Order: sequence, then structure tokens, then C-alpha cells
Amino acid sequence: MRFLLGKNYEQMSRKAANLISAQVILKPDSVIGLATGSTPLGLYETLISWYMKGDISFSKCRTVNLDEYVGLDPKNEQSYAYFMNKNLFKFIDIKPENTHLPNGLNLDNDAECKRYDELIKSLGGVDIQLLGIGNNGHIGFNEPSDEFKAGTNCVKLTESTIKANSRFFESIDDVPKFAYTMGIRSIIQAKYIVLVASGKNKAKILEEALFGPVTPQNPASILQMVENLAVCGDEEAFSVIKEKHKDIIFE
Ligand code: PGA
Repeated sequence: MRFLLGKNYEQMSRKAANLISAQVILKPDSVIGLATGSTPLGLYETLISWYMKGDISFSKCRTVNLDEYVGLDPKNEQSYAYFMNKNLFKFIDIKPENTHLPNGLNLDNDAECKRYDELIKSLGGVDIQLLGIGNNGHIGFNEPSDEFKAGTNCVKLTESTIKANSRFFESIDDVPKFAYTMGIRSIIQAKYIVLVASGKNKAKILEEALFGPVTPQNPASILQMVENLAVCGDEEAFSVIKEKHKDIIFE
């Protein structure tokens, strides 16, 4: 496990973007696992600026997103398909047919989960997976539960996630109650994982996930079992780890 420390959000985003960009330069047809949420935005902006300078091309990349709300049309501004287009895809040279998300409009849960797992397999698995961490330790939409779910699954979102995500909706009642998410097995099978965290409110859960017991009650704790993991954080996100684990070396 590597710890990459940025002095602030911009520097943390730049360090994380460097890892993704190195992967794409070394393997232009990489399969990149992408995430939504506010934390990856700086990283996406950085990748866009490097693309615009001509330093990097995504023309051969394939992408698979972690999750999507059930019931939302890709044209709905709150869908993750819309988010990805608005914040990354429309600015870079990725081919739309090479970008994949779970289909929120397929209400046949079993069929959709199976389709998404088979898709990831047919792409040859994920080369580099970007992850945020929820306030409750969720990765993708794998919420705290009694078991680690292996493959893509349909989850009932927890109250804390619905509350956290309501900032993007007009009212909390508009937040969908279910989502499709890649499962824990698909996530940890990625050849490389980049976890991004920013701000004080992630400091405690990040420390618990990376140094506490491995338990489905804190889904991100499974990352302790992963060798190829880079945790990119800013000073605030790493504050509890710095305080409790003085031996950790930050790059
Ligand atoms: P955030 O979300 O980046 O908006 O904090 C992270 C997550 O819920 O995975």
C-alpha cells in the first residue's frame, strides 16, 4: 500500500491523475474503472487539461463506472452517466461506445447485474480502478452490511448515503433509494487501485478502513487485502492516520 500525500486538494488530485495517466501512457487500451462523487472532480479536471495540452490520449481506453442509480435515465442530470459525460467524457477523445456504466433503466436487477459482470469480464478486467470512500466506508455503493457482496449487485442505499447525496438533488425525497454497484470482488480484482480522499470528514473513516478490522461493516476495509493500492489524500484526509501511525511513509 502506497500513501500519496498532497498538501491540498489540487495537489492530491494531481498525484492521483499522474497514476491514471501513467497507466494510459503505458497501455493505451487500458480498462479504467471510474468513480463519481465530488472527490474525483479535481483529478478529472487535471486529466482533461493534460489531454488538451496533447500529453495524453484516451482514444483507445475503455471505461467501466462503479455504479449508477436505479431508475434514472442517462439524460437525467443526477444520473452518473450524465455526471461522467459532463465532467470528463465530453472533454476528451474517448469513444462513447467504449464508456460503460450499469444501466439504471433496466429494472430487471438480476439481468442487469449479470450483464455488467459479463461486460467487465469480456473487457479483460479492470487495469486501474479509481475509488472514493463514503462517510460510512462505502466503496462504489457497497454499503456497510453483514457480508461482502462479490459481483455487481443492487443495493438499498443507507440513510447516511441518501443524506450525503441529497446535496445534488432538489430534495432528499428525490434521491433514488436503490443503485447498481460493482461488487467488492470486481473492485479488488482490479490490477491497480487508486483511492482518493479529501477533507477532514474522511479522516476517521479512512483510518478505520485502512488500519481497523477487515469487516463488511466498513466495506473499504477490504482494501487492506489489496497489494496494488495507492491511497491519495490531502493533509486533512490523512490527519488521523498521521496522528495514530507515525511510522507511515508518505510520498
Ligand atoms: P465524495 O463521495 O467524493 O462526494 O465524498 C465519495 C463516495 O461516496 O464514494
